[in-house]
Amino acid sequence: MTPFQISFCCANTDPEPWLAGLHAALPQAQVSVWQPGAPAADVAVVWQPPQQFFDEQPQLNAIFNIGAGVDALMKLRLPPQAVVVRLEDAGMAVQMAEYVCQAVIRHFRDLNAYADDARVGHWTYYKPRQRSDFPVGVMGLGVLGARVAQALTHFEFPVNGWSRTPSALDGVRSFSGAAQLDDFLASSRVLVNLLPLTPDTTNILNRAHLSRLQPSGYLINVARGAHLVEDDLLALIHSGHLSGALLDVFRTEPLPADHPFWREPKITLTPHTSARTLREDSIAQIAGKIGALLRSEALAGIVDPVRGY
Ligand code: NAP
Ligand code: GLV
Repeated sequence: MTPFQISFCCANTDPEPWLAGLHAALPQAQVSVWQPGAPAADVAVVWQPPQQFFDEQPQLNAIFNIGAGVDALMKLRLPPQAVVVRLEDAGMAVQMAEYVCQAVIRHFRDLNAYADDARVGHWTYYKPRQRSDFPVGVMGLGVLGARVAQALTHFEFPVNGWSRTPSALDGVRSFSGAAQLDDFLASSRVLVNLLPLTPDTTNILNRAHLSRLQPSGYLINVARGAHLVEDDLLALIHSGHLSGALLDVFRTEPLPADHPFWREPKITLTPHTSARTLREDSIAQIAGKIGALLRSEALAGIVDPVRGY
């Protein structure tokens, strides 16, 4: 195989183990960390790179994103001939399923209230709830959403799913397109967001849509902060229409210290950790796809720049 250059440009990531792993998986490649003025490369491995990176790398053939979501990349001017390839699962789907299932169960079983009671020495029972009263709606039924929806069916929650095109997942009621969004929301009490962030989905978790959830609705946002209109969530919690939310992603990350979400007891926060990029799985997937590219084989996980995901 001919030698080729990989340029690594990933924010908030220690490059050394990635370089060592990529080199071990692709010994014919020269792998280096990008710096301004670095020589031109054939392939990029990136996470939230600056525009300057692409301005200086106009000849790239492929851009591998070390995350599932490509919204940060879609905002940049990319070399038009380069394919953008995202991570597909790479160990994230099971993490997302465990995170969302524990959140739904925690909410359904009043486990936060039991934890509060235990802290003050109260032995209290809450009335068991009916699973049939807790239909869960999963927005986005892609690699992660489908895994989450199916995991929830194993706990026998009624599960609804909403996607752009109709889906056929066992035990999941399919809704699709803008025309079925209201029915999907009205059929759900707990809402899980696993949509990609695109112009069509930005601010989709707004007052009008969240108001359509069944009373005492609960929001789990594990996709992107810009899906959610933050003031609308607070207003709906304060009015009592929503009983609370679990948020893993925010418009500004890290969440600023003075943000009202920190002080809202009905909101539980985690720091964008529901499904982490796993280095070894990701390197194996990227190396496999680079091999496929070099052999001119078809690749899965190529982003459609028109759809934005
Ligand atoms: P994916 O495989 O591309 O799936 C996207 C799903 O969203 C598809 O079902 C798609 O419908 C649907 N969709 C897209 N636009 C839509 C629209 N306008 N209306 C209705 N449905 C729409 O993505 P994924 O790998 O599951 O990842 C989803 C997102 O999770 C990522 O984009 C990222 O933002 C987020 N994420 C977060 C974390 C974290 O730690 N918090 C980790 C990983 C990923 P079709 O099936 O019809 O195409
Ligand atoms: C993380 O948020 C990802 O998109 O992989």
